[in-house]
Amino acid sequence: MKILAIETSCDETAIAIIEAEGDEQHARFKVLGNALLSQIELHRQYGGVFPALAKREHAKNLVPILASALEEAELLREDTQSIPQDLHDRITALLEREPELSEQLMEFLAETERPEIDAIAVTAGPGLEPALWVGINLAKALSIAWNIPVVSVNHMEGHILSALAAREADEEDVLLIKGIPMPVLALLISGGHTELVLMKEWLSYELIGQTKDDAVGEAFDKVARMMGLPYPGGPEISKLAESARHEPDDFTEGIDLPRPMINDNTCDFSFSGLKTAVLYILKKYPDISLEDQKRISLAFEDAVSDVLYAKTAKAIEATGAQTFVIGGGVSANTHIRRTFIDKFDEEQGGVLLKLPTPDLTTDNAVMIGLAGFYRASRKEFADIDSLRADGNRHLT
Ligand code: KG4
Ligand code: ZN
Repeated sequence: MKILAIETSCDETAIAIIEAEGDEQHARFKVLGNALLSQIELHRQYGGVFPALAKREHAKNLVPILASALEEAELLREDTQSIPQDLHDRITALLEREPELSEQLMEFLAETERPEIDAIAVTAGPGLEPALWVGINLAKALSIAWNIPVVSVNHMEGHILSALAAREADEEDVLLIKGIPMPVLALLISGGHTELVLMKEWLSYELIGQTKDDAVGEAFDKVARMMGLPYPGGPEISKLAESARHEPDDFTEGIDLPRPMINDNTCDFSFSGLKTAVLYILKKYPDISLEDQKRISLAFEDAVSDVLYAKTAKAIEATGAQTFVIGGGVSANTHIRRTFIDKFDEEQGGVLLKLPTPDLTTDNAVMIGLAGFYRASRKEFADIDSLRADGNRHLT
């Protein structure tokens, strides 16, 4: 099955073409084409993602990205097509609020043949609704033009499934999902999410714990901003902390940060107190030096890792999970990855640990293609007329 996957939930515009085969227990994915444009540089001046700008950039870039993903997949065939008036009218009405996308798409459809694609997978949530809508509307337009069914994908399911996938040895563009003992516990850590979710059987979820306030990625970004570091703050803090990991133990002396809720009986999290504690410490450093930024980054990253692992251990004990997986942008963090690898080795013998390969940690369309395949295999296709963006979509 060939899947065209579209991701526009936040600040990455991404389209991938995946060839998928197998079943839920044993699936094989070949990435035929993968085009991604990050808007990070544009949003940096606002210190965060600016939804109206994200939407405009997605609208401007989707068709060129579609063309380049199809071309890489060798599915782009140039040919003059005549577009029937009723099709033209339907697409124009659908893309009424994105005139630039509408015009580019109409031109693209008039110049290219329908590609051999079996399903279109699109992120329908969670995420920024204006941004999600652009991808959804493109999916609908392509579905109508090419008569291809659409699968509505939950972005977080994409993070989970792609983190369960492993690269085939010596085949760069092949991913495999196989040999995953159930149940799977997933720790989802991104800019908008911090939760522990149990997948008892494939694609069936139960929420085990979640943050009461800030998401981990949000805490990284806010602490970075308080120290005057650019957006997104996660990678900045990670770099500073990593550069200080060889320092002696007393390097962070005097910077005592709390581990909120670490000893309570739930699998819930809280990060706003940690953020406030950093704010108080920063008051002592009106002119913060690079050394102090390193000290604080190190102490902050240690506190976050301790809490994430402690809650994970509690959830594994409570659920009897056989596999544990981390998904979401924060799973790119070197220290968090290392902490989990070491701790699992020492304390969680028998539980399979899965971490996403680095290029699949932050948002991408490959993960949407993987989730799209699982849903399409169950024939869960969306009704074009009722498909909507849902910024707060939950895993069910
Ligand atoms: O999953 P993602 O790309 O987008 C959302 O769905 O939110 O996650 C983005 C988040 C941002 O908060 C970013 O600061 C954080 O992931 N992040 C990191 C690292 N790389 C990205 N946080 C800590 N360490 C990193 N290396
Ligand atoms: Zn994400």
